[in-house]
Amino acid sequence: MAGRAVLVTGGTGGIGRATAVGLAALGARLGITGRDPRRAEAAAADIRAATGNPKVDAFGADMSSQAEVRRLATEVLDTYPRLDVLINNVGGFWASRHVTADGLEHTFALNHLAPFLLTSLLLDRLKASAPARVITVSSGAQSLGRIDFDDLMGEAKYSGQRAYNQSKLANVMFTYELAKRLEGTGVTATVLHPGVTSTGFGTEDTARGWGPLIALMRPFMRKPEQGAETSIYLASSPAAEGMTGRYFVNRMPRKSHAASYDASTTARLWQVSADLVGVPADAS
Ligand SMILES: NC(=O)c1ccc[n+]([C@@H]2O[C@H](COP(=O)([O-])OP(=O)(O)OC[C@H]3O[C@@H](n4cnc5c(N)ncnc54)[C@H](OP(=O)(O)O)[C@@H]3O)[C@@H](O)[C@H]2O)c1
Repeated sequence: MAGRAVLVTGGTGGIGRATAVGLAALGARLGITGRDPRRAEAAAADIRAATGNPKVDAFGADMSSQAEVRRLATEVLDTYPRLDVLINNVGGFWASRHVTADGLEHTFALNHLAPFLLTSLLLDRLKASAPARVITVSSGAQSLGRIDFDDLMGEAKYSGQRAYNQSKLANVMFTYELAKRLEGTGVTATVLHPGVTSTGFGTEDTARGWGPLIALMRPFMRKPEQGAETSIYLASSPAAEGMTGRYFVNRMPRKSHAASYDASTTARLWQVSADLVGVPADAS
């Protein structure tokens, strides 16, 4: 990865941090993001120390806010004259309904709209750096998802699990539509399930009764380094060169939810997402 620039969103903890460590160890020039710039800088310093790679930069942005995603994109474009890999890793689970600065439901905004907007804003730089890769971290929960176009924001009825499942199916649909739009550009788009991994996931707003259950399950979960394996593989392996429009589990392509292959639904989700973040739907 020497000479390649990689941005990992959410590199301060969990799977994103382990992904950043793995790619920094391979020699990439690496950017990580987190909400708090000081925490992000502390994580970057730890990654520099752990890997001996001095080229690790920190960016602070609350990606639930579209203004912050736009500022982040500008800083990234100013910092990296070329961008070879974008890993859309930030995401989470919130048991209760929260509303973002833009008035949108938080899970949908952070897990789906933030990577949609960030990717759109960085796409020209990725194309100019081709061959380049866009990798999005979804979840096995995508298989339980349904895109509820009549109530995308869970205003009529909210369930943390349903919102999460929907957002992770949206990650898969976004990737498939992106791959189609990027045909012939040399930029690929893949999506993955990292496996159930012991991280800070879900701890900010845990569903009632789940806290003790998660504590019991932790010893059986993957370590973050294991959860990062497929992201690192898709970002760095020559074997993954040219692979696009596919969903991966344990480094292997797998079938995703049947609905994710429905071209009219993926196109509709793309249009709705473009409208919600204020970018032209035909930007890519
Ligand atoms: N853990 C699992 O079992 C599992 C399973 C399937 C899929 N996943 C997926 O894997 C991805 C990573 O999850 P994880 O388990 O590593 O979670 P995590 O330990 O909670 O890490 C989340 C990362 O995202 C950042 N973040 C959270 N909210 C943010 C916001 N509003 N703006 C910017 N950054 C934000 C956090 O940084 P700061 O706190 O510093 O802001 C942190 O670096 C997610 O997309 C998740 O859906 C996880």
